[in-house]
Amino acid sequence: MNEEPTGGSALPQQGLPAERVLDEIHLLRAQDRPTHGGQLFAYVYDPAVPGLDELAATAYAASAHVNGLDPTAFPSLLAMENALVGAAAGLLGGGPGSTAPEVVGSVTSGGTESLILAVKAARDAHPEISTPRLVVPASGHAAFAKAAHYLRVGLDVVPVDPGTLRPDPAATAAAIGPETVLVACSAPSYAHGVIDPVGEIAAAAASAGVRCHVDACFGGWTLPYLRRLGVPVPPFDFTVPGVTSISVDLHKYAYAPKGVSVLLHRDPALRAPQYFAYADWPGYTMINPTIASTRSGGPIAAAYATLRHLGDDGYLRLAAATRDAVAGLAEAVRGVPGLRLMAEPESTVVCFTATDPELDLFVLVDELTARGWHTQPQLSYAGLPASVHLTVTAAVATRVGEFGPALAEAAKAARAAGPVVLPEELRTLAGTLTPDALTPELVGGLAAGLGLGGAAAGSPDRMAVVNSLLDAAPPALRERLLVEFVGLLQRPHW
Ligand SMILES: Cc1ncc(COP(=O)(O)O)c(C=O)c1O
Repeated sequence: MNEEPTGGSALPQQGLPAERVLDEIHLLRAQDRPTHGGQLFAYVYDPAVPGLDELAATAYAASAHVNGLDPTAFPSLLAMENALVGAAAGLLGGGPGSTAPEVVGSVTSGGTESLILAVKAARDAHPEISTPRLVVPASGHAAFAKAAHYLRVGLDVVPVDPGTLRPDPAATAAAIGPETVLVACSAPSYAHGVIDPVGEIAAAAASAGVRCHVDACFGGWTLPYLRRLGVPVPPFDFTVPGVTSISVDLHKYAYAPKGVSVLLHRDPALRAPQYFAYADWPGYTMINPTIASTRSGGPIAAAYATLRHLGDDGYLRLAAATRDAVAGLAEAVRGVPGLRLMAEPESTVVCFTATDPELDLFVLVDELTARGWHTQPQLSYAGLPASVHLTVTAAVATRVGEFGPALAEAAKAARAAGPVVLPEELRTLAGTLTPDALTPELVGGLAAGLGLGGAAAGSPDRMAVVNSLLDAAPPALRERLLVEFVGLLQRPHW
């Protein structure tokens, strides 16, 4: 190959043979973290089912050019969407014979879009409220803040108890005011994997006449199966009175390829304000249930194929493997002195923190990465310590025995290396700099000093110093620094 795959433009003077192009993509992909194999504990969901990827890819290709813009032109997509919504509703306490027989829904591109649309539906159901507000626990996914920001909805954040990592239902009820259009909670929260007190929160919302959204993007496809396996899962779905909408991501624990989530509403009237319709222009009358107008059928067909192939029995088996993997990982954490589980696992997250200042979590994360285990560091926040998040999927089950020794070794190496000591001027900067005072020169200098950006775009192998700097900064500065750092990475190849 003459050109580096990262060096060339996407538009060569003359088109290249298909094989060459695929080689380039494979070369690029080799730089990525491993999406399969049970050693990446965030971003990816791997059931380790032979043949599933191929099936999903074939189904994706069959519908990639189908456009969800008009369901009457492409009834195949409508049929598959309705089947996915029906399956999700059935798992989550809705459908024929249930207490929520009128459940309807939409297929969206992901959890964030589902949450934005839940907020939009709640906001637009109340055009008389000029400054609508959303009540959300501090542990709610950042996508709620994004929804509030995009939709100009005010955000009332309810703190979580540092012990239980859950919002207090009474504090949630107290946060509901005359302008509140939606109350949100999680089943479970992404960061710590704990299930919020949905029953009490939904009751408080209902008694105030306000909608209640359960964000089950992460857990909606596993909790029902874990319950069937005997895990004590509290009620969190449409069986709970007052729950008006639920989101569940199929590209998470339904193991579908990326780009597919379901947003359910208890009845069609609740869903109606989610739609956007527009007839006041000379082109086609637009009617969109989701944010995107043109939508590829690829993710929907791939999800449909995945669900049909794995089936209910398949998901039950995968949930059992995941439950065992969670237990094994939690045991591994308990076995390392100086580490503590943030919460006893009740879903498919293992989250731990350090109790010994000599054991720096960010250094530990780097040491795990060096050993092939990719975990997700979480910064300290509002009295909660920094932590390490593990999203556990079925593929981890066969690797779990290797994790304990790797964690112990990594902890030993992290202790030997000692905690990150930020240079005094950086620590002062993090503590005193206001986001507005960040100049391009300052950001460039910081990024270079931290080994970010530059010719070999991507992140450095060792992130402990970067994470320590971010950890020392307040959230507003963290946000601004990340925008600037990522902006440095996103530069065109000419
Ligand atoms: C609980 C929860 N809600 C929402 C989201 C956002 O989903 P997405 O990344 O698909 O937009 C996530 C993603 O991890 C999540 O865990």
